[in-house]
Amino acid sequence: MTDPLRLGIAGLGTVGIGVVKIVQRHADLIAKRAGRPVEITAVSARDPNKDRGVDLSAYAWETDPVALARRGDIDVFIEVMGGHDGPAKAATEAAIAAGHDVVSANKALLAHSGQALAEAAEAAGAVIRFEAAVAGGIPVIKALTEGLAANRITRVMGVMNGTCNYILTRMESAGLPYETVFEEARALGYLEADPTLDIGGIDAGHKLSLLAAIAFGTKVSFDAVALEGIDRISIDDIRRAGDMGYRIKLLGVAQQTGRGLEQRMSPCLVPADSPLGQLQGGTNMVVLEGDSVGQIVLRGAGAGEGPTASAVMADVIEIARGSRMSTFGQPATSLSQPVAANASGAAAYYLRLELIDKPGALAKIASVLGDAGVSISRMRQYGHEDTTAPVLIVTHKTTPDAIATACEGVMGTGVVTGKPVALRIEQV
Ligand code: NAP
Ligand code: HSE
Repeated sequence: MTDPLRLGIAGLGTVGIGVVKIVQRHADLIAKRAGRPVEITAVSARDPNKDRGVDLSAYAWETDPVALARRGDIDVFIEVMGGHDGPAKAATEAAIAAGHDVVSANKALLAHSGQALAEAAEAAGAVIRFEAAVAGGIPVIKALTEGLAANRITRVMGVMNGTCNYILTRMESAGLPYETVFEEARALGYLEADPTLDIGGIDAGHKLSLLAAIAFGTKVSFDAVALEGIDRISIDDIRRAGDMGYRIKLLGVAQQTGRGLEQRMSPCLVPADSPLGQLQGGTNMVVLEGDSVGQIVLRGAGAGEGPTASAVMADVIEIARGSRMSTFGQPATSLSQPVAANASGAAAYYLRLELIDKPGALAKIASVLGDAGVSISRMRQYGHEDTTAPVLIVTHKTTPDAIATACEGVMGTGVVTGKPVALRIEQV
């Protein structure tokens, strides 16, 4: 047996402790599969006195993650602290400068600085792997960089944030209020340190931008992702979409169009009986489309200790086996600068309006929609006890611009209260 691969783990929270547990539990299995032992040399976190539920006494302790990254007795620096700058970035840069390979679960850091880090790593002869950063336990990076490497990828799509899917589905199925479900997601270890990254769609946008870079051979362009979170979605929307045969999902789509690279992450309606519509809890689903392979659907746990640590360790084993994959599946210097394109493709839309209940109100709305070129496919008005009536409209296929014009128009009719909710309906 050859020399052990020595790990330094920065971050001993949900993911870091999950990694320690796998290394301790599966040392023999990993050694056989990797062809060499994999050992933890040193660890780092803020609080050396916290009880983390595992025995860490055999490992050197560093309170400063940069000091850990510079140690001469590690081969792989595992960054599972989080944060798109600060100590996570400084320590990752230090590890690369020291010639260490890096395994990261940090999509925020990679979405913001992935290109610079990849160029630095490749210049230093180091590798960066980040399977855990996208869709938790689902091996989607390996699917793109290895299994589908011979395909021209045409589209990447999916549900990539476990927290949002957990909240959207659990509120509906258990009839629990948002606050209760949010705390459940926290207890399951799904939430980012700053949960607005989850709810605002930013975390899922980070992930989509990383997949798009690999899929389309472009530099990571997170700033070009059109982002919308789930914060405007109410339990009423969830129930009413259900009444119309749909479920609401925070759905990401990245595709190369004739106009450039389209990347969007937003709440969409999908048919309730479709595979995406059936997705429950913290589960993620990623759909990959390639010119030779057709469509591939990957589904699994998108967050939490075990699934995420499983993905981190898959990268570690890949490195232990001697693989030297480029960060984004091709040399970083060969990635092109993408041209950002807005989503302009036609789709049906769901509209929810709070309509003042008086004669002629509905006619005014129909007229504004007609003027904007939006045709109504189905409409439902709900019973109500006050002066406003919730009205749901499903449109025929129309463009995002026409929907924006229609929404602006209805605001000026004087017969609606609040802003209309408009959600794209994806046929998947
Ligand atoms: P977490 O539970 O909050 O743990 C973060 C760990 O980093 C803690 O041990 C903390 O130390 C340590 N830390 C934070 N700032 C530090 C600093 N300045 N110096 C030293 N240590 C520091 O986070 P997590 O859920 O494990 O997530 C870690 C990373 O994995 C994030 O990038 C996240 O986006 C990503 N990720 C998480 C999941 C998931 O399901 N949780 C899934 C995929 C990817 P203390 O414990 O002493 O406070
Ligand atoms: N906060 C993330 C989520 C963790 O809920 O999906 C996994 O990346």
